[in-house]
Amino acid sequence: MESRASHKTEASLSVPRHVAIIMDGNGRWAQARGLERSAGHVRGVDTVRLITECASEAGVEYLTLYAFSTENWNRPQAEVDTLMHLIVMAIERETPDLIKNNVRLKVIGDTERMPAEARERLMRCVDETSHDTGLTLVLALSYSARWELTRAMRLMGSDVESGKLDPEGITDATVEKYLATTGMPDPDLLIRTGGDMRVSNFLLWQIAYSEIYVTQKYWPDFSKDDFMDALADFKRRQRRFGLTGEQVSSSDK
Ligand code: FPP
Repeated sequence: MESRASHKTEASLSVPRHVAIIMDGNGRWAQARGLERSAGHVRGVDTVRLITECASEAGVEYLTLYAFSTENWNRPQAEVDTLMHLIVMAIERETPDLIKNNVRLKVIGDTERMPAEARERLMRCVDETSHDTGLTLVLALSYSARWELTRAMRLMGSDVESGKLDPEGITDATVEKYLATTGMPDPDLLIRTGGDMRVSNFLLWQIAYSEIYVTQKYWPDFSKDDFMDALADFKRRQRRFGLTGEQVSSSDK
């Protein structure tokens, strides 16, 4: 397993190693133009491509995108179908370019709920990019943090029952091994588009110390400059991880 950077290194990061994004505002973007909500999702896919390129160029190691939440299954069936179709088609279409750009694709979430064919097509793309060593693009699909944490607790309970895990020895690092994101650094920066000030059941364990950046821009309008503004804002933050500002400044020297 990859070791995590120390707090000292993280406090002085100039480019976040891991950026997580809540891509919100597709529906409002479309409605503001008198279009169907699906038109916003179609444009949202273009932004996914653009921001993946920017993140890779900027030297970000992990980009996690909240593409479809557990709660999104409750949207009107036609919208669910459109989103599933768009996501699978886009990934298949982009896979040759992902490989060309050395981008590794990973999926986190309850993919068992996806139609079998869509899941198989997606897993094929994950497989085809598995040897890439550049940016890791993580799609949170049929994902929610409560699903992830409940699953982790079930798995831990079963390992305790079978004697593989000693409850007295459970630490933060043990819990991390049972998460869908195991082996990845926690997000340094969480971006939310669309202006809402909430975390919407996204990576609740992992964002304990993430810097949060909310922009009013709707996801289809989110541009390279907007992404670079978020990275510049991150660079100006002092991350303290519960320490005092003085402690962090002196350990940075
Ligand atoms: C939120 O907008 C967005 C989503 C629920 C889906 C985001 C998905 C994409 C952009 C497609 C992803 C594609 C790939 C290839 C990963 P909303 O519909 O909740 O907007 P609203 O808040 O304005 O209603």
